[in-house]
Amino acid sequence: MSGRAPAVAIASARRIAADLVNAVLIDGRGLTQALTRSRADHADPRALAAAQSLAYGTLREAGRLRHFLASLTGKPPEPAELTGHLLVGLHELDAGLSPDYAAVNETVAAAANRFPFARGFVNAVLRNFQRRRAALDQNLPEQARWNFPGWWLARLRAEYPDDWRSIVEIQNQPPPMTLRVNQRRSSLDDYRAELRNAGLDHGIGGDWWPSTGPLPALILARPLPVADLPGFADGRVSVQDLGAQAAVPLLEAGNGMRVLDACAAPGGKTGHLLELADLDLTALDRDEIRLRRVRDNLDRLGLAGARLIAADAGAPATWWDGRPFDRILLDAPCTASGVVRRHPDGKWLKLADDAQQLAGQQSRLLEALWPLLKPGGRMLYATCSLFRAENAGQIQAFLSRHPDARREPIHLPGMREGQWLPGPDMDGFFYARLLKT
Ligand SMILES: C[S@@+](CC[C@H](N)C(=O)[O-])C[C@H]1O[C@@H](n2cnc3c(N)ncnc32)[C@H](O)[C@@H]1O
Repeated sequence: MSGRAPAVAIASARRIAADLVNAVLIDGRGLTQALTRSRADHADPRALAAAQSLAYGTLREAGRLRHFLASLTGKPPEPAELTGHLLVGLHELDAGLSPDYAAVNETVAAAANRFPFARGFVNAVLRNFQRRRAALDQNLPEQARWNFPGWWLARLRAEYPDDWRSIVEIQNQPPPMTLRVNQRRSSLDDYRAELRNAGLDHGIGGDWWPSTGPLPALILARPLPVADLPGFADGRVSVQDLGAQAAVPLLEAGNGMRVLDACAAPGGKTGHLLELADLDLTALDRDEIRLRRVRDNLDRLGLAGARLIAADAGAPATWWDGRPFDRILLDAPCTASGVVRRHPDGKWLKLADDAQQLAGQQSRLLEALWPLLKPGGRMLYATCSLFRAENAGQIQAFLSRHPDARREPIHLPGMREGQWLPGPDMDGFFYARLLKT
């Protein structure tokens, strides 16, 4: 950590990171929500960026780090808020992010700043870890060894007996930062030149895409805050995973079509749709606050004209004008089990029942939206999940209920029956393209 941001920023980063970790592991709040609050409370963007990186790293490894902490202390720390400080400190030591003496001293200082009586305790736990590190690393229980809850591992093992190990390993690594160039504002070549001029190494992802067109995407060699991306504020570029960038080209929406983006927020795919074609677009999301982010994104990208509606896509009577759609994108709410390296809080907040409960919501949305599609029209059902109940199982059940639906095969590298597993260059996604016959 040293060398990237000044010492004052790093000191406050440790405090913010501890708060973020506590928000997820103690209060059960989502990281995005906790980050929004941190942004409001803390002005220094360098401290925030460093805190974010520490908190994400700690949460990715939280199975292992919590095991270390329990072995070192024997009982939960008191007050509970010390947990965040201790886990972040253990993460720094475990991952070798800073010299050991700095990780220990600075973690003790950050914790003692709030809990002066805990100085000795925090110091003892971290120094104990330094001494016992090798022994603690032996015979780890499952959740600690793989950094996933037991139920999640069991499900991956059952559904992916040959791949679960590589899925877990890749999801314990930081994700790549992938960019989508707004072709209405820049060409891929021009934007690559901008990146080179800014000294930002990058590669191309998705150059296997079958047609000339929306892919390839650009993958940065090292992530950086979006505000530091050339042309971000001017809407020349967006950040979007390669797997997610496949959605809009798969939908094949052409100029003049009437299109529904049924679960649109925060608008990653809404922007992509309008970058590629002039559409009569309705973008819907149940969450009014998240829907504001769709507007912000479209404004940034310079894309006007979409109709934004805060409503339940599963209750068309409340928002539909009765005119059928040529295309429907249903990017359904899901467990997000394909993107946990990007949202590591998800694996600690989700429960075993969630996949089944979400499958119920997905099925309700599919049923409600199918009648809104024109004959000959296409619906793209998408999730960023790996679990069968939300993906292949969901679509099989839908097809068995709807003789007027035909699933069109999608042939893309690495994809098996619509399912992409997470890999070095992309997250896990599922796509099913349904034609209304
Ligand atoms: C996977 S996210 C969509 C991501 C978005 N398509 C993108 O590319 O940025 C799922 C969204 O579905 C919304 N949602 C969940 N249930 C809904 C419902 N019944 N009607 C409309 N939106 C819903 C959530 O608020 C969430 O924003």
